[in-house]
Amino acid sequence: MTEERANELVNKLYENNDLTNEEFDEMLRSTKSDELLYKKADTVRRSLYGKDVYIRGLIEISNYCKNNCFYCGIRRGNKNCERYRLTPEQIFECCKEGYSLGFRTFVLQGGEDAWFTDEILCSLISKIRESFPDCAITLSLGEKEKESYKAFYDSGANRYLLRHETADPEHYRKLHPIELSSENRKRCLFDLKEIGYQVGSGFMVGSPYQTTENLISDLRFLQELQPDMIGIGPYINHSETPFADFQNGSFTVTLRLISILRLMFPYALIPATTALGTIHPRGREMGLCAGANVVMPNLSPKDYRKLYDIYENKICTGEEAAQCIQCLKGRVSSVGYNIVTDIGNVKKH
Ligand code: 5AD
Ligand code: FES
Repeated sequence: MTEERANELVNKLYENNDLTNEEFDEMLRSTKSDELLYKKADTVRRSLYGKDVYIRGLIEISNYCKNNCFYCGIRRGNKNCERYRLTPEQIFECCKEGYSLGFRTFVLQGGEDAWFTDEILCSLISKIRESFPDCAITLSLGEKEKESYKAFYDSGANRYLLRHETADPEHYRKLHPIELSSENRKRCLFDLKEIGYQVGSGFMVGSPYQTTENLISDLRFLQELQPDMIGIGPYINHSETPFADFQNGSFTVTLRLISILRLMFPYALIPATTALGTIHPRGREMGLCAGANVVMPNLSPKDYRKLYDIYENKICTGEEAAQCIQCLKGRVSSVGYNIVTDIGNVKKH
């Protein structure tokens, strides 16, 4: 592709928030448009969100999981994974600490762990809601029945993160055992929206067997879903999974996709993810410059962090929450943005 063609495509995406499949394919395969792509994405991001970077306190509540996804280090089939689960009291303490550090969003993330019944979760959510009325409670606990999602919502949860992982059912099949389906994932996402959650979805970049066509299906699915949050990160190998021999996803393709997402969904909350920071030492900073506007530092108690081992060499496992936020403040300001203490709701589309 010529430089001229690359720039033409970026400008078209900037103006129309969309391209044809053929044009997305061209853009995804070439590095030629990258500089302009990042610049345009940053322009759009600044026009809506200025220099603000929202922080979300991530609390990894349990690494027990009933699922066996082929890419994930905490899959139930990994017998070498040392399991832990935080108590509701420990989780609440994390929120308290997070609040004093300036967090106004708590993300309760975990494997699909049956110990956390709806009853236990609802009582925990209600307690957090009562104690921190000015905060958002985000859940990231996988696939549930609609009734359960509704009960959590009624207890005070407002946001839900559930990546669709890959929108193509056949590709989904190659990443997951038979009991999981792309259809049910999507059902969950639409249920969550209908209930009234702010919904986050997303996908891995460079997961095994992924094609450029698959990535375009991911973009199309997101257009259909119209999520408020979009989290993407490179696939990262884990040796204790069936995918041990696959390569990591591409850092530059991930950055390119962050910019494409910003141009397609100007209002979206897009994190510079931990996975991005794991495959490149300045990954999160570069993600912010390419259009991301959220970071999600870890608020889990330090002693458990290493155990939430979904992929290898995950960063921020040795630091206290306070250290992590200090470190991030420096990183964010080094590229000209500011971390803000704010609930950080989506600017309405
Ligand atoms: N590499 C990168 N991301 C992963 N996830 C799970 N396993 C991996 C991996 N090996 C992502 C999935 C999941 C999120 C919590 O982490 O997209 O939704
Ligand atoms: Fe966690 Fe730097 S952000 S240690």
